[in-house]
Amino acid sequence: MFSQSRPAFVWREEVLPSDVAVIQQMTAASGFFRPEEVAVAAELADERLAKGSSSGYLFVFAQEGDQVLGYACYGPIAGTLHSWDLYWIVVQNHLRGQGLGRELLELVERRVWAAGGERLYVETSSQPRYRPTRRFYQSAGYAPQAVLPDFYAPGDDKVIYVKRTTRPGAANDPD
Ligand SMILES: CC(C)(COP(=O)(O)OP(=O)(O)OC[C@H]1O[C@@H](n2cnc3c(N)ncnc32)[C@H](O)[C@@H]1OP(=O)(O)O)[C@@H](O)C(=O)NCCC(=O)NCCS
Repeated sequence: MFSQSRPAFVWREEVLPSDVAVIQQMTAASGFFRPEEVAVAAELADERLAKGSSSGYLFVFAQEGDQVLGYACYGPIAGTLHSWDLYWIVVQNHLRGQGLGRELLELVERRVWAAGGERLYVETSSQPRYRPTRRFYQSAGYAPQAVLPDFYAPGDDKVIYVKRTTRPGAANDPD
């Protein structure tokens, strides 16, 4: 369901040099990530710019004019046949809850399934602050798969979710 104020946007999958600073700003302003995580988010874009597709990082940006409204970063997990990871997904604070995150996630899923991916993994924290994030994944069909107790810090577990393709004939065809 979209609010009246939801802006029109276009998708962009090419990474621009200016995205490094934009990602840094967006992830920092979200209030959800520690400074080290903000640095890593920006580094993934840097790596993509330096190495191209061999970096293993793919991006999708929702863009209105010269403004990035939200983005996601994902890629195949090295050493696996069909498993992919969603590394990052962030929507600008003032646009949250208007459906943009869902659209970003659905575009990533389409890309992953089309590339032969059969499992898309996401991970987040067990902390109460991340309850909306966990709801977001669960409402999009992601099932909790594992909990790593105290992973981030004492009392702060890592929760790993997975979504499997419904593509007929996939090796991991859902039960
Ligand atoms: C998580 C995030 C990407 C979701 O994007 P969004 O645009 O706000 O989410 P949407 O509006 O597309 O919501 C889709 C669904 O998620 C759930 N959801 C989203 N925000 C929620 C909230 N605050 N409380 C409860 N459920 C929520 C809802 O079930 C919603 O489904 P509905 O439309 O049927 O109600 C965004 O809120 C965000 O950037 N959060 C901070 C950063 C973060 O946690 N990133 C993920 C970890 S990398």
